[in-house]
Amino acid sequence: MCGIVGYIGKSEAYPIVIKGLRRLEYRGYDSTGVAIIQDGKLQVHKKKGKVAELEEAVLGKNMHSHIAIGHTRWATHGEPSDRNAHPHLSNNGRLAMLHNGIIENYAPIKKELVLKGYTFKSDTDTEVLLNFIQDIQDNNKCDLEEALRIALKRIVGAYCILLIDQDDPETIIAARKGSPLVIGIGKDAHYLASDASPIIEYTKEVVYVNDYEIAIVRKDELILKNLGNEKQTPFIQKLDMELAAIEKGGYEHFMLKEIFEQPDTIYDCLRGRLLHEQLEIVMAGVDNNIEALTKASRIIIVACGTSWHAGLYAEYLIEELCRIPVEVEYASEFRYRNPVIHAGDVIIAISQSGETADTLVALESAKEKGAFIFGIVNAVGSSIARLSNAGAYTHAGPEIGVASTKAFTGQLTVLAMMALKMAKFKASITEERYVHLVNELASVPEKVKEILNNTSVIEKIALKFKDAKDFLYLGRGYNFPIALEGALKLKEITYIHAEGYPAAEMKHGPIALVDETLPVVFVATKDMYYDKVVSNIQEIKARKGQIIAVASVGDLVLPTMSDNIMFVPEIDEVIAPLLSVIPMQLLSYYVGIAKGIDVDKPRNLAKSVTVE
Ligand code: AGP
Ligand code: GLU
Repeated sequence: MCGIVGYIGKSEAYPIVIKGLRRLEYRGYDSTGVAIIQDGKLQVHKKKGKVAELEEAVLGKNMHSHIAIGHTRWATHGEPSDRNAHPHLSNNGRLAMLHNGIIENYAPIKKELVLKGYTFKSDTDTEVLLNFIQDIQDNNKCDLEEALRIALKRIVGAYCILLIDQDDPETIIAARKGSPLVIGIGKDAHYLASDASPIIEYTKEVVYVNDYEIAIVRKDELILKNLGNEKQTPFIQKLDMELAAIEKGGYEHFMLKEIFEQPDTIYDCLRGRLLHEQLEIVMAGVDNNIEALTKASRIIIVACGTSWHAGLYAEYLIEELCRIPVEVEYASEFRYRNPVIHAGDVIIAISQSGETADTLVALESAKEKGAFIFGIVNAVGSSIARLSNAGAYTHAGPEIGVASTKAFTGQLTVLAMMALKMAKFKASITEERYVHLVNELASVPEKVKEILNNTSVIEKIALKFKDAKDFLYLGRGYNFPIALEGALKLKEITYIHAEGYPAAEMKHGPIALVDETLPVVFVATKDMYYDKVVSNIQEIKARKGQIIAVASVGDLVLPTMSDNIMFVPEIDEVIAPLLSVIPMQLLSYYVGIAKGIDVDKPRNLAKSVTVE
């Protein structure tokens, strides 16, 4: 994971890099560090903890420099500490390097280097790669770029690295494989970062560096080369992102802002695609591949975490509406179990960041086997978006809070439109049902607004149950993925243990957990399972569990069973998850806040999991 920022140009580099690191903190916040070159001497400042802690540590120090690289870490090798913080220095003290990713074969290389007399100040794989580069340079008497090329050919793993040499204060060398890198092109300046958020206020012209490319970056020059030392032409793209989209805009937390943005983000996702009056759905990625999608013998959905829950929703949806078999796979499992992929299988990859390493590698191997890949991605220009054969963006805008909220509803919206479009093409849906569902989908932004207009009930429930040790989340049918998502949100944001389960399956085991202390959240909106879910609620009540229910407005039965009810407007069950997930998000948010947790940056997590 981790966030990387670099700057070289005529302005002061440190403030630009620090500001960029604050924007990238969502990617990791175990430690922060920067390296600058001052009067031909490398200076490294690093500190365990968030960016603010480093800023405080360097207060009053002379940070003047026109070149700087900075890192915010999500530890993989070595505990979060000052000494494991990046950037690292080479044994000869001449090179500073930072890294996002994992060097898988670092152990034998380290052994080799130790035998040669190298010493290591950290436990990281990064410091091993850095000294490996120094060693190659010393032995081959070659320039740094050449030494880096040789080293990269010998290492296994994923990386985005930035490297500076105190003898060459006019150059940053960068390389990537598997971890993202964007370079912004300014006037007499270049900006390097893990995503575009640190760059947009300076320039909208960017180059996305590809895997196995090395960038030699100077104030007024950007050279891209492959590992064979052949020059590549940088493909300059225009950023379609506004600064306001990544700032808090008056909200106390990004998570709350992003929850409240959902009426707009869902609307943006539908806009220009769901043509309500014409009752048509236009999605270029789907339209251009409608044969491949609808004739698929099987659809395999590959994703992680919250995106996997969106995939599970799609399984119910596509199987019901399109009558195509769907399998939903955890990317990390799919990749390593040598799955059977037939020609004619379609893979749908779902990812907010478009950089999740497990998803990315799973797709790479599926693509090699000839699968057609359709990407549902939020981050424009990200690795998964570029790897996909076709796709649809969720258009939720940058999601900064670590817990995914608006990206999830964007994913559900894209999937619903896609399934309707495919069902219509296949004639596996009646015209009447199609029209009804198009109308229902079009009503979602307004209905989400209604939920957000009255959050005080949810806040009260959160305060009542904030000290619970465990939670159980139950749902059936389309609401089962929402029960899973509710439990995941609670774990992430409040550190309370929670389990999501199919409501009926609960009696096959988890019911043993139920006593008067256990809050049980039922996602019980009006759908074909409603009566059955009411029976499940009775089963929990009979064992004195504390019932919290998400119910449809107008439900007169559930209020007789519990005082803890969060209402959502009535809507067809196929579309219901888009509404029933909102109280789940808010419940976690309010519990997290009541417990004093930094909900935007909960412990141990990172926004974009770019390590396997
Ligand atoms: C969501 O709240 C989580 N932080 C996490 O499960 C996330 O959904 C998962 O890591 C997948 O990320 P992606 O959508 O960016 O691929
Ligand atoms: N593997 C490196 C470390 O543990 C980099 C991790 C990261 O991407 O932040 O320090």
